[in-house]
Formats: sequence, C-alpha cells, structure tokens
Amino acid sequence: MSFDRSLKIAPSILSADFADFGREIQAIEAQGADWVHVDVMDNHFVPNLTFGPPAVKAFRKHVKTVMDVHLMIAPVDASIDAYADAGADILTAHVEAGPHIHRTLQAIRAAGMKAGVALNPGTPAEAVAHVLDLADLVCVMTVNPGFGGQKFIDMTDKIRTLRAMIGDRPVHIEIDGGVDPKTAPLVSQAGADVLVAGSAVFRGGSVENSEVYGQNIKAIRDSVSG
Ligand code: DX5
Ligand code: ZN
Repeated sequence: MSFDRSLKIAPSILSADFADFGREIQAIEAQGADWVHVDVMDNHFVPNLTFGPPAVKAFRKHVKTVMDVHLMIAPVDASIDAYADAGADILTAHVEAGPHIHRTLQAIRAAGMKAGVALNPGTPAEAVAHVLDLADLVCVMTVNPGFGGQKFIDMTDKIRTLRAMIGDRPVHIEIDGGVDPKTAPLVSQAGADVLVAGSAVFRGGSVENSEVYGQNIKAIRDSVSG
C-alpha cells in the first residue's frame, strides 16, 4: 500500500481543558481531527509538567483515530514500555533527550509503536540523517518546547532540507508549534504533511461549543488546500 502523505491535522490536547480530557478528545475527533497529539512533559527536559503513562492510558479509551504521543522528557528509554502499555500509536522522542537516539528509535519500534524523532528549533536536520530508516515520523518543532500559544519560529528551510533527505521513504514530517491558518501553508509548501495545532484549534471553543473546534480545524485545512 502506498504511503499516505495527505494532510493531517493533529490537535494538541495541551490546549484542552485539563479537567475534561475525555470529552475534549471526543469533541476534536467529532470535529475533524485526524490524529490526537499528546504532549508529555517532565519539568526536566522542558520547563513544564503535564502527565505520564497513567493519564495517557486513560486518554486511550477515548481516542478513536491515532494517539500521537510527543515525549518532552529525558531520559526516554526506561519509559518506552509504559507508553506502549498505555496504547500510544506513535511515540516521538527528542534527538536532544540523550546520546542514543538510534537505540531509542529501535526500542520504540520493538515495543510495537511507530517511532518519531523530534528536533528543537536549534537542532539541524542533519541530526537525523542516520536514523531516517528507523523513523516513521520526524517532528520539526516551530517553537521552543514546553508551552502552547507561543509565536511560530520559521523553520521552512529545515523542512525543505528534511523533505529532500527523506526522499521516498515512508516518513511523515510533522510540524509542532504556532501552527495556524497563516503559518500552515508555509510549512505545507515546504514539505510537511502532519500539522499539530493546540491554541489555533481550541481557541474560542469548548466541549459545549465544539463547533468552533471544527471551524478552527477547517480554517487550517482550507488555508493549505487554498
Ligand atoms: C509544545 C508542544 C506543542 C504545543 C502546540 O511544547 O509540543 O504540541 O502544544 O501548541 P500551539 O499549537 O498552541 O503552539
Ligand atoms: Zn507537541
């Protein structure tokens, strides 16, 4: 089967109501989310703390699409089995989180998940040149990780470089941070196919008023299709 590089919108629940994740996940999927992006933060690798495996396992019961887990933690390897058990479909580790990204990606796949590798804004695309055959996704951070609602940092050159490096390998390019109807076309034209969006999806809506989520998702999708 050919690799599906069609546009996917992955709302990040970091911008959701932290007291209502189950209904928020149901709402964004009902309103057109292709994936659900789950931001795990340890207050060590990034200066913020969100949730760990028990919470991710609870989210799993509500996710009907793809649970795309973004680990902003260090070290990573000791936690891989816990996220496999929690039901992550994709598990993404930061190349900056430790010295052995090659082994980490092998371990994620060995645990039965798709493997992602994330690059902070200061990290060059070349940092993943030798692991593209071990990855199913490369996540290009367009903010410094740790918070939603930050200003987009232009990484279009890095995205273009990555797209060329990946060639026809079945590897997604995911963009994470500051994605909205203005920035989405830039990164899509540069070669990205998965767009994470937190504040641009959740802004102005609620579980009770989730049509706004649908309008926000559609605005991002329409901005790319033109
Ligand atoms: C930041 C997270 C992002 C963030 C995106 O560290 O990895 O996924 O939630 O939020 P927005 O779209 O508001 O920048
Ligand atoms: Zn993220």
